[in-house]
Amino acid sequence: MLRSVILAASRNAGIKKVVATAPISRNVVRRFVAGESVDDAVRVSRELTEQGLAVSLDHLGEDTTDLAHASATTKAYRTLLDRLAGEGLTAGAEVSVKLSAVGQALPGDGEKVALDHAREICAVADAAGTTVTLDMEDHTTTDSTLAILRELRRDFPRTGAVLQSYLRRTEADCRDLAYPGSRVRLCKGAYEEPESVAYPSARDVDLSYVRCLNVLMADDAYPMLATHDPRLIAIADERARWYGRDRGSYEYQMLYGVRPVEQRRLVAAGETVRVYLPYGTEWYGYLMRRLAERPANVTFFLRALVSRS
Ligand code: FDA
Repeated sequence: MLRSVILAASRNAGIKKVVATAPISRNVVRRFVAGESVDDAVRVSRELTEQGLAVSLDHLGEDTTDLAHASATTKAYRTLLDRLAGEGLTAGAEVSVKLSAVGQALPGDGEKVALDHAREICAVADAAGTTVTLDMEDHTTTDSTLAILRELRRDFPRTGAVLQSYLRRTEADCRDLAYPGSRVRLCKGAYEEPESVAYPSARDVDLSYVRCLNVLMADDAYPMLATHDPRLIAIADERARWYGRDRGSYEYQMLYGVRPVEQRRLVAAGETVRVYLPYGTEWYGYLMRRLAERPANVTFFLRALVSRS
């Protein structure tokens, strides 16, 4: 119930205006976001990679309906990739791109605009020696996102996909994408979805996650297991051993600011762990989804709202 309310608020312009301009504690945003500038993104990337973690950087923003904004976001990714390359960080740093931030939501030829922009980002990433992963947004965009992924993989086969285990279709999508070298991030899914397309119970989402994990592990894909769930991490570890996977033939992924001790424990155990690291000024939608995932985060947020620290 609370989750639905927060997710509805994440797309409400009036609430966004109030929250985004409230005298909110910087600590709340800072817990989940590297900072507002590319300098912040590069600085935190360096700190994390020095600790043995890999990163995937997200220039915050989504649902753009303005072509100039979509082009500016594309340019921001180019700048970021140039900076990462210049600082010798691309071995451990890739980027994550939301297609709705680079034009997918534009009326008319949005899909083509997003494809062109994503291709531009992939070319710069490729030249810098790194990769791009296409974040997955709500279910109305899944077909379009997977179509763009297929196009991009013709020239940039290492482009990463994201699949969400809460969607009923995802096990079949996993089978389509489970081929050698195919980089697939598997997550539970963070949007409010109708029962017609998504499993309503957490148990069914978890069971779907395990089925999808098996498909990706069995078929030589490169699974990127994006979860903080201790039970799923234990199952992934057992499945990797069962399928005879070497460490490094799959990776774990977690969000910046969530379970950092567990991130370091996995690194110490020899696992590859990539931290999803957002930066930029458009943090509202991202922050609201993080609050929706965990009621305790709402308490943290409200405390910060009143403390103004
Ligand atoms: P679950 O929500 O059951 O949480 C398990 C435990 O993890 C909790 O009990 C808590 O301890 C901890 N935890 C989880 N979320 C937390 C939070 N926000 N704050 C504090 N603790 C938390 N989704 C999507 O739809 N499209 C996408 O492209 C991506 N991309 C993505 C990348 C990466 C690297 C990650 C880790 C996640 C995503 N997600 C995503 C989000 C994902 O779908 C999901 O909403 C969250 O990861 C939470 O699900 P868990 O698997 O962690 O389980």
